[in-house]
Amino acid sequence: GKGNHAHFMMKEIAEQPAVIGDTLQAFLNPLKRQIELPPLPIDLAKISQLTIVACGTAYLAGFVAKYWLERIARLPVELDIASEFRYREAPMPKDGATLVISQSGETADTLAALKYAKAQGQKVLAVLNVPESTIGRESDVVLHTLAGPEIGVASTKAFTTQLVVLAALAIATARARGAIDAQREAELSTALTEVPARAAEVLNHDARLKEIALKVAECRDVLFLGRGTSYPIALEGALKLKEISYIHAEGYAAGEMKHGPIALIDDNVPVIVVAPSDDLFEKTASNLQEVRARGGRVIFFSDKAGIARLGDAAMAAIELPTVDPFVAPILYAIPVQLLAYHAAVAKGTDVDQPRNLAKSVTVE
Ligand code: M6R
Repeated sequence: GKGNHAHFMMKEIAEQPAVIGDTLQAFLNPLKRQIELPPLPIDLAKISQLTIVACGTAYLAGFVAKYWLERIARLPVELDIASEFRYREAPMPKDGATLVISQSGETADTLAALKYAKAQGQKVLAVLNVPESTIGRESDVVLHTLAGPEIGVASTKAFTTQLVVLAALAIATARARGAIDAQREAELSTALTEVPARAAEVLNHDARLKEIALKVAECRDVLFLGRGTSYPIALEGALKLKEISYIHAEGYAAGEMKHGPIALIDDNVPVIVVAPSDDLFEKTASNLQEVRARGGRVIFFSDKAGIARLGDAAMAAIELPTVDPFVAPILYAIPVQLLAYHAAVAKGTDVDQPRNLAKSVTVE
């Protein structure tokens, strides 16, 4: 059941501190401050490339993972949505591996992409919430997200637990390739260990996010901006908002604004800027100022330092916990979920069963 919640989606958002903790426990040894993965069919030290394929929100988890794996593990990553990948006949390196990500394990395009990769001689790793699924049976190893059943069509806790598993994979890959030392692994592991408590703090912003969502619900178009790992979070915010509230939303890489979408900016288009304090913060800050200069109304998701620096330029700001930038995308996923949820409730849509959508897309 939904417990005290009006919708499964809200119940599942609220479960995130707990299920992120459950998932971490399966992959992280808190005493040794080390990642522990099950035996893999590939040698992470030796692969030349990882190809990540998925659909929708699972694809956006893979997008964050690409940034992580390239940055901390120095592993080249190829990323595509499954419906394109399955038909594009990409050459795949013999010493590469493929990673598929799926909540349901039944998504038709992701399964077809997996079969293509296998036919190309690739070993397949799968990050799945339902290991006893079709994709689970076809894969060489399953890394299990312990989100529990996800009922709402909008993926929430499946996404953040996918990010946890992918973070663990990125750290293990970095270690195997000698790209990080034991001390950095310990720091990253500690940052991950703190995510459940920080996620619970983020949930405390629910009432304020609801107020902001009431304003967003009156708009026809919304833009989400971010850089680095905040870019896929911006895309995820836009996906969530359109899927459940039917408001047109787009996610954009903040630096790409001036190549077109800035023409859309006026005071009717709220711009949600996802910007934790990290090495790209100042770059995003100048994009935010460009939006402001054109009369855009900014909703700013940042931390204490970011808000001290830029909060005045925003119509509204949400202060998220200060964390290692590595784990920020896991936490910043939560306010974009809550914003979409409250906007959808305000619009009176069928939040858990939005029109035209199915929980698992088993046809192409
Ligand atoms: O079950 P899967 O993770 O393979 O599903 C993939 C997408 O269909 C899914 O994430 C979809 O985009 C969600 N409804 C987004 O909230």
